[in-house]
Amino acid sequence: MNNKILGIDIGGSGIKGAIVDIKTGKLLTERFRIETPAGGKPQDIINVLIELTEHFKWRGKIGCGFPAVVKSGVICTAANIDNSWVGIDLAKELKHKYKLNATIINDADAAGLAEIKFGAAKNKKGTIIMTTIGTGIGTAVFYNGVLLPNTEFGHLEIKGEIAEFRASDAARKREDLSLKKWSKRLNRYIAELEKLLWPDMIIIGGGIAKKKEKIADLLKAKCELKFAEFGNEAGIIGAALYATNTKL
Ligand code: BGC
Repeated sequence: MNNKILGIDIGGSGIKGAIVDIKTGKLLTERFRIETPAGGKPQDIINVLIELTEHFKWRGKIGCGFPAVVKSGVICTAANIDNSWVGIDLAKELKHKYKLNATIINDADAAGLAEIKFGAAKNKKGTIIMTTIGTGIGTAVFYNGVLLPNTEFGHLEIKGEIAEFRASDAARKREDLSLKKWSKRLNRYIAELEKLLWPDMIIIGGGIAKKKEKIADLLKAKCELKFAEFGNEAGIIGAALYATNTKL
């Protein structure tokens, strides 16, 4: 069996890809990043996906993490992307129009898969929440290693506001919050997650994971709290892992 898959992570600011060894979770190439086109319109993003496959001269399977609810390849929501995405069967479109063999998964679910299989939650049982803090807030919930797909706990309401609007990395930048101030908001979010789901571990990933040294002491949880071992690469690795098996 061929162990190599092109993993792609579509994010709010960048679209990143690398060829992944799905047996080890290691990147076999440098990560290649292209800015996410402003507005996040379907054709613009599809063009970037094609550019990425051309960069890697890739003909094999592709796993693609997408920042929305995804059911059987169809994009179901559009929180931080253009509304016209809703209803598009991206897997089908890529296959029929561009002959690309891609499976599509929610971006946070992808990141969670990588951390469960090879990273921060390897061999860990119980309820694990992966949360990606970037342009939005994504979540992936696992129980004993099994994913409950498409949880959208970044959209919990806190103090009358959507959590990702208050506590994402984009919110921190937009409101020019100090890390201390922002961390209070994230801690409140973590407390809400704990109140509802009683996890055994929460993993913090996404763009903010780059600041882990600075924020580690500011973040609090009742359960074990870890940073994503693969940092911002978890989404690429997990998307590739997902392409090896089932539909969600
Ligand atoms: C979307 C999620 C996504 C998250 C992180 C949210 O706005 O609703 O589906 O996982 O952003 O990209």
